Amino acid sequence: MDKFIVEGGHRLNGRITVSGAKNASLALMPTCLLAPGVFHLDNTPNNRDVWTFSRLLGSLGVHAELNGHTLLLDSTNINSFEAPYEHVKKMRASIYVLGPLVARFGQARVSLPGGCNFGPRPVDLHLKGLEKLGAQISIDGGYINASCPRLQGAPFHFDISSVGASVNVMMAAVLAKGHTTLTNVAIEPEVTALARMLVSMGANIEGIGTTTLEIDGVDELRPVRHDTIPDRIEAATFLIAAAMTRGDVTLDHVNPYHLTAVIQKLEESGAELDVAGDTIRITMNDAPNAVDITTAPYPGYPTDSQAQWAAYMLLAKGASRVRDTIYPTRFGYVPELQRLGADIETGDMYCVVKGGAHLSGATVMSSDLRASASLVLAGMVAEGSTEILRVYHLDRGYESLEHKLNAVGARIRRERTEEF
Ligand code: EPZ
Repeated sequence: MDKFIVEGGHRLNGRITVSGAKNASLALMPTCLLAPGVFHLDNTPNNRDVWTFSRLLGSLGVHAELNGHTLLLDSTNINSFEAPYEHVKKMRASIYVLGPLVARFGQARVSLPGGCNFGPRPVDLHLKGLEKLGAQISIDGGYINASCPRLQGAPFHFDISSVGASVNVMMAAVLAKGHTTLTNVAIEPEVTALARMLVSMGANIEGIGTTTLEIDGVDELRPVRHDTIPDRIEAATFLIAAAMTRGDVTLDHVNPYHLTAVIQKLEESGAELDVAGDTIRITMNDAPNAVDITTAPYPGYPTDSQAQWAAYMLLAKGASRVRDTIYPTRFGYVPELQRLGADIETGDMYCVVKGGAHLSGATVMSSDLRASASLVLAGMVAEGSTEILRVYHLDRGYESLEHKLNAVGARIRRERTEEF
């Protein structure tokens, strides 16, 4: 187990290169199951979730090798169609192997993903979509069994905008026989990135980037080399960190179009942002204005950056409300921030953050990936040192977070600990 010791009071100043998007990599990696051969995924982040997914693919017979930031996936010899609980329990996105396995091999046995620290994470839309394409689905012993000699194209409407269900069903539909129309498809950049990669593999998909996809199934696809989009959530985390420390930071290798809601909220808070090509420069010279946020599916304010915004609003001139319409209970970070002196009240699907907080360092516990990020940000502006336990949560979605932040002035030390 590792922990962070974060020394507060250091202004961020300099440039940070943003890594490839974790949630894009997790959507792109299972496409290797759709065609035999060697795939190369460039700009893959070197983080724990990518390692976990690589091990899962390995258990299916894929040879996975991360060379720098290029992930090589050789799917020539798939020899299993079962995703065991040992992998799925570590990462929900493991369920992304379900669609491709059924589509290409006609069978799959995938452990039901559990919930997580911010509530139940149902997969009913994944299963309904695959059933509509003809898969026989049954559940026994905590496993999903899916089978179908050849999926058949069909219309399917997602009752809720779901990133994961859109990813899974899209990967199944591209090899189904006939035409599939998907409506209310998620349009998060990671979903659009997957559609583009599938087209480069030979899939027929129209409407990419919109909530309606028209897919004509093909009989086979081919392996490709594909570049992973930048991580918009990592970028948002760094922008907020810079604003919190009244810093001056330029992010390199970002896609500003993926961050319009976050950029606008930061500007409303009083930060100055300059967007130029694939860089964003943020400067902040004062305490922020209190700005409310409400999360929503893309292009709305991302739920994966609401905890970070709550940490930022601790410094604001007034109170602000943070609402999460996607995960109503995603506020596990609040009690931990309260240990640092935060005055936050939680309600139904929201919390109210009182600004002007005087934060003092303490020991706090990470609970999930993005909650952990909010603790690091708060520790960076708290008086004294803050000890953050269970940083493996952070390592799931951030590559070398402490190195990137220390390179622009933060003081974060990683220590191994027996504490749990
Ligand atoms: C993806 O999770 C992301 N994970 C999450 O990021 C992100 O928070 C989430 O999308 C929302 O943007 C990956 O991309 C690997 P959803 P996912 O299906 O696909 C409900 C992070 O920190 N729903 O879009 O699981 C669900 O309960 C992670 O990087 C159903 O009801 O999210 C939620 O309320 C955390 N039935 C809403 O849809 C289903 O079958 C959106 O969830 C599926 C989802």
